[in-house]
Amino acid sequence: MDGKTRLAGIIGWPVEHSRSPMLHNHWCRVHQINGAYVPLPVEPGQLETALRGLVAAGFRGVNVTIPHKEEAFRLCDELTETARRAGAANILRFAEGRIIGDCTDGTGFCDNLLAHDVALEGRALILGAGGAARAVAASLQDRGCEVFISNRTAARAEALVQALGTGTVLDWAEWPDRLGEMNLLVNATSLGMGGRGDVDWPALLQAGQAGLGVADIVYTPRQTSLLKAAQERGFRTVDGLGMLICQARAGFQAWFGVLPDADEASFDLLAQDLARHGLS
Ligand code: ATR
Repeated sequence: MDGKTRLAGIIGWPVEHSRSPMLHNHWCRVHQINGAYVPLPVEPGQLETALRGLVAAGFRGVNVTIPHKEEAFRLCDELTETARRAGAANILRFAEGRIIGDCTDGTGFCDNLLAHDVALEGRALILGAGGAARAVAASLQDRGCEVFISNRTAARAEALVQALGTGTVLDWAEWPDRLGEMNLLVNATSLGMGGRGDVDWPALLQAGQAGLGVADIVYTPRQTSLLKAAQERGFRTVDGLGMLICQARAGFQAWFGVLPDADEASFDLLAQDLARHGLS
């Protein structure tokens, strides 16, 4: 590193689980870019202070993850159309003291499903109502899916559907009974991250029909207890690692000037690291 090193990073709380630093620094090496990408643990309530500090320190921008995506959206000086629709920002670019927010979670999610030959059609049930859920819901709707939202805190699910303009709220206790009507189930909560959350997925998935696609946005571990239960039922499953790589590309381009590929090498690097840490 020297005085010309371009700096970016990821803000989250916690942020230790994130493989984004590994991915972006890999792309810096591959493309011979004088850049560095660092983890930035920022406590809830400290996001604005942290962002203004990073702008002042000359960072190019940051990724934003749980639990800051919606707050980041509110703090941006400018937003892309996609971020506005998603109501969340996962990629911030700093330019002339201003913070410009974009959201690539939804397109990253859909690109990854298509790469796994999962059709984006019919009824999609999304668990969760945070920034990631909203981005995924908006992108699925843009591709013609009928979206259902269920969240532990019902008021957040109601607010999400209202913001989307269309969609159906299912009670958190009710969604397992409605699973038989769905083509796709998406976990967009933090349940399962780091093995957290003691949900009895096998029981909750009982009503699912053959052909149901099950996707998890959590990728630590890759094989979440939801995906394990879904596989045992013979459902098609997609883990969160591909989404991480697909959503990261646009951020890398914004900060470092090159659009990297979501190639096998990037995927293998992260998959092997997760395996080394017992998170396969
Ligand atoms: P992000 O904006 O990155 O999606 P978030 O706003 O913190 O992050 O959202 C986390 C999601 O996980 C929320 O939908 C949350 O549900 P609540 O709105 O009820 O908090 C969900 N979540 C977290 N822990 C959960 C748990 N133990 N059971 C069910 N849902 C949980």
